[in-house]
Amino acid sequence: MKYHIVTYGCQMNLHESEKIAGILHGKGYTEESDIDSADIIVFNTCCIRENAENHAFGNIGALKQRKRQNKDLIIAVGGCMAQEAGKAALIKEKFPFVDILFGTHNLDELGDLIDKKRAQRKRVFSLKEERGETEDGIVPVRTGFPGAWVNIMYGCNNFCSYCIVPYVRGRERSRRAEDIVREVGSLAAEGYKEITLLGQNVNSYRGEDGTTFPELLDRCARVEGDFRLRFMTSHPKDFTGELVEVIKRHKKICNQIHLPVQSGSDRILSLMNRRYTREKYLSEIRLLREEIPDCAVTTDIIVGFPTETEEEFCETLSLVKEAGFSSAFMFIYSPRTGTRAAAMEGQIPEEVAKDRLARLIEAVNEQTRAISASYVGKTAEILCEGFDEKKNLYLGRDEYGRMGYFESKTNRIGEYVMLKIDRANGISLYGTAVDA
Ligand code: SAH
Ligand code: SF4
Ligand code: F3S
Repeated sequence: MKYHIVTYGCQMNLHESEKIAGILHGKGYTEESDIDSADIIVFNTCCIRENAENHAFGNIGALKQRKRQNKDLIIAVGGCMAQEAGKAALIKEKFPFVDILFGTHNLDELGDLIDKKRAQRKRVFSLKEERGETEDGIVPVRTGFPGAWVNIMYGCNNFCSYCIVPYVRGRERSRRAEDIVREVGSLAAEGYKEITLLGQNVNSYRGEDGTTFPELLDRCARVEGDFRLRFMTSHPKDFTGELVEVIKRHKKICNQIHLPVQSGSDRILSLMNRRYTREKYLSEIRLLREEIPDCAVTTDIIVGFPTETEEEFCETLSLVKEAGFSSAFMFIYSPRTGTRAAAMEGQIPEEVAKDRLARLIEAVNEQTRAISASYVGKTAEILCEGFDEKKNLYLGRDEYGRMGYFESKTNRIGEYVMLKIDRANGISLYGTAVDA
């Protein structure tokens, strides 16, 4: 019996798909990369923006025919969309061939749901209200070697006015620091080289004994082994000098931080309920750069938030320059039913938002290109993480997150490789391994 998992959304979901794989392995299934040959197909969905949902709907819908031909095929839908108010009923109605529906709070029940489905042949829908547990006991089948993800917390309490996450992921729950440090230790011992601590807002982590995020990060960085440490996502409202100190103290912690700004306008930031100002954000970046001059800052930005004016958008453009982002994820605001912003007056027409997005992308790309160009002729240490079949080159990232490609006759995945950078193209660097 073979499984195929389709994942949408953030790192959190990618890691949860590794747990889904763990459950399926436990039931004797093996992985199948071809969706058409699988006996069970699991969709791990995302509902952060409308296009993420449309994507999933399209791909689930495409299986109607296959299910007709193969009655034994099991189709399961889980993740954030399944947990979203009203969506479960919609999936049930729209896709009568979906066999199993499970939410974000009962992932650990998937094995039982599969047994149930096989026994009764009826559809099984199981969605749970939030539960307090932070240990699911599932052993993930990790797919990101040499990288590994470690959850440090679940859920979110921030209720940014545009965001659906607090509704589908529940309230903040932190794992015990001891459990996290132990997991980091065993990953390091297993040879993982890049460990990323995950949470919707890692800065508000609170361990059982009051451990703060900087303290947790410090403990993780003291774990023995030759690995890099990253974390995401940091919320600017809880950013502290102590965090900067810890990053500075440890070589293991990459000099790169993902600090989503969302907007450069104070009025929009306030409407978004972000709880910081443009000036506070910029002062954090200044502090970071004073202490760690080479630190790369990446961000998330939303354009076209309700009532955003051209002038306010231009404040976002100017902030991009001032903050000196090395790259950014940029999105058109997407109204999410049930969130405060979706009910706001002054929704921005799509053409206006699209135009703003295009101008923002150009502004960010200009900086990205300039940073890439500054690498040419220098060396960069990358952690080789894969092979690009199309380019026929190995690839990996440096500590700042910049992607470097190189040729090699031997498999170097999982090794640190020194590259002399020969040329740059957009965000990508191309180099020659100098230690091979
Ligand atoms: N917890 C993280 C982000 C999670 S969602 C944080 O607070 O930074 C990832 C990104 O998606 C957000 O940073 C935001 O830029 C974007 N996003 C969230 N909701 C959105 C919406 N309704 N429309 C467009 N972009 C959205
Ligand atoms: Fe969403 Fe805000 Fe929570 Fe991030 S911090 S997940 S943007 S509500
Ligand atoms: Fe992640 Fe999407 Fe859910 S971004 S938390 S998978 S809504």
